[in-house]
Amino acid sequence: MSQRKKIALIGAGNIGGELANLCAQRELGDVLLFDIPAKADFAKGKALDLEQNGAVLGYDVSIKGTSEWKDCAGADVIIVTAGVPRKPGQSRDDLVAINVPIIRAVADGAKEHCPNAFVIVISNPLDAMVYEFQRRTGFPREKVVGMAGVLDSARFSLFLARETGMNVKDIRAMVLGGHGDDMVPILGATTVNGVPVSKFVAKEKLDAIIARTRTGGGEIVKLMGTSAYYAPASSAVAMAEAYLRDEKRLLPAAAYLTGQYGYKDFYMGVPVVIGGKGVEKIIELELSDDEKAMLAKSAKSVSEIVEVVKKFA
Ligand code: APR
Repeated sequence: MSQRKKIALIGAGNIGGELANLCAQRELGDVLLFDIPAKADFAKGKALDLEQNGAVLGYDVSIKGTSEWKDCAGADVIIVTAGVPRKPGQSRDDLVAINVPIIRAVADGAKEHCPNAFVIVISNPLDAMVYEFQRRTGFPREKVVGMAGVLDSARFSLFLARETGMNVKDIRAMVLGGHGDDMVPILGATTVNGVPVSKFVAKEKLDAIIARTRTGGGEIVKLMGTSAYYAPASSAVAMAEAYLRDEKRLLPAAAYLTGQYGYKDFYMGVPVVIGGKGVEKIIELELSDDEKAMLAKSAKSVSEIVEVVKKFA
């Protein structure tokens, strides 16, 4: 019998809790719900509630709350949500001052205790946080990835499903670029089960849906007073599962670029293949001139925020 996998969730807040719930229900492995010492009991309580939930729903994995990195030692997967979420009126970039020191603390803990983990960063501003995590740990780039594209594509898919009246299961969408308001929906890769979406949705409607997708996170922040957590958690778990089960899934994710699409030395959302080695490939799509221009704008925003993070003392 092979040993159970170990999944360390760094941050036991809204997304952390839902991540634990999904990892447990899918029996991906034993779960550690890690938070700062002031939240250790909260994390332990949440973990216990979720373990008890297994008695009702019929799953059995160990779920423990902790504020000690040594409990996370040897984790196969780490998913990082440590940090503060947005409040209404804030951009993701407004979170830099608070979240950079937090991501550095998390990187130091991970480096010491979980050197072989596949790491998925969710904390915002995403593209800069995943960059900083990899820079600080020096972990192999293919083992550190950011979750944004699966979520942004899911939002785009839902809006297209509602507009076309068709089942969201049949919508295939692809959103690339930074996880900000200038993300880039790729229409050539957006279909209803292979049929180009332009057959079903008129240009003006499509433009409105793209605009809503770009601000899809902000729409929820405005309604709830904090950021989304169900779909972000599911998106990261899809990526974790692709790694743990060596699924070779093609998913959009923030990956370290070394010249792909004409960009290098930072993380940005591109289609990748995730399997047992982590990010096994970066796929380069043919982009239209418009898409190239949008990607350039998005890349500029990402590299600017990365520069801010690099200089952050
Ligand atoms: N180590 C571990 N956990 C930490 C640390 C740290 N150094 N600093 C803060 N945390 C914890 C907080 O105590 C809190 O419990 O991170 C948790 C974040 O949870 P929430 O505030 O509920 O935020 P959540 O909605 O889960 O979002 C987390 O993901 O999508 C992004 O923008 C979002 O950056 C935010 C992150």
